[in-house]
Amino acid sequence: MIGDRQLAYLDSAATSQKPVQVVEAMRRFTEHSNANISRSVHTLGAEATEAYEGARARIAAFIGAPSADEVVFTKNSTEAINLLAYAFQNGSLDPSADPRFRLGPGDEIVVTEMEHHANLVPWQQLAQRTGATLKWIGITDAGRLDVDSIPEVITERCKIISFVHVANLLGTVNPTSQITARAREVGALVGLDASQSVPHLPVDVTELGVDFIAFTGHKMLGPTGIGVLWAKADLLEAMPPFLTGGSMIKTVTMEGTTFAAAPAKFEAGTPPIAEAVGLAAAVDYLDQLGMENVRAHEKELAGYMLERLETVDGLTVVGPRVPIGRSATVSFTLEGVHPHDVGQVLDAEAVAVRVGHHCAKPTCVRFGVTATTRASAYVYNTHEEIDRLVAALGQVRKVFG
Ligand code: ALA
Repeated sequence: MIGDRQLAYLDSAATSQKPVQVVEAMRRFTEHSNANISRSVHTLGAEATEAYEGARARIAAFIGAPSADEVVFTKNSTEAINLLAYAFQNGSLDPSADPRFRLGPGDEIVVTEMEHHANLVPWQQLAQRTGATLKWIGITDAGRLDVDSIPEVITERCKIISFVHVANLLGTVNPTSQITARAREVGALVGLDASQSVPHLPVDVTELGVDFIAFTGHKMLGPTGIGVLWAKADLLEAMPPFLTGGSMIKTVTMEGTTFAAAPAKFEAGTPPIAEAVGLAAAVDYLDQLGMENVRAHEKELAGYMLERLETVDGLTVVGPRVPIGRSATVSFTLEGVHPHDVGQVLDAEAVAVRVGHHCAKPTCVRFGVTATTRASAYVYNTHEEIDRLVAALGQVRKVFG
């Protein structure tokens, strides 16, 4: 409730609400099994380790990973992408590194113009530090990836393409197969920012044919503080560690250290144990709903939202205007009213949306706006809540003329 009004929560692209099963799983673990993992011989230590490693196996199965050892727990998607970009940076400084991770002047990194900053800034930094060139695939006026430019943008010089699966501002679902096919032709590695796709549609890493994916727990009914980098086993083996310290070593002397095998190599320090348990419970919840059903529900809501928003005077959708190849995240502008004002009036009507640049400033620039209002739906949203959004936008019109 917001005051005496029932909340219409339409901000799940920022973070989702959590089912009681997730909260309960974390509470149970913390009350009954709390201990550090892989360190203690006592009963609670064993229980905690089993819960943590069980969560890894559960999440691996959810994304179709061939092995649980390919799942690395991170803090969030941003950390997962930084870990990956760092492997290239470190590889570029080390002549003995796997050549797939060595970049220098003349090499190219490819992203898209519709990236969240988390999948742009680390690659910009990598380009600056190694002398490699950052290129990007543009966006059409309809809010789709400019797939015609793929052969020209992704050349033989490309070493890594990292692109967003579902765009957080536009809602566009990108065609992965065209990019992976081109990547194979030129021998580049492929990473996918799956932060807005793993929560909303069936994602199978083997079917996708990519080399890395990054996603985060809190957008998929799970807790904050936990994310995932999935990578093929041979790539994880070739990658240097990111953070170093306890739990990621094989041997340590005063003179030097050797590292544990993946995934431990990438999980220095005490990891997010209760959060892993919560994420596994979220995955169980999503599996019970069925990811095909989740996708169908959201496709239906996206269609309804687009149809209803079209009835609002002066409203322009930024992104695809049809519910095909898009998610239920819809950004828009309202003529003559700043998105922050829209957000405030909506909040007074107990309708929660996100306003601003959504950490995707280049997308805003592409569409000539500084900010948008963004409504994003998930498994728990209804038509009635979308009707309330539209009614509240009518209220915005009244307040701002
Ligand atoms: N990346 C999140 C969003 O798009 C925070 O809102």
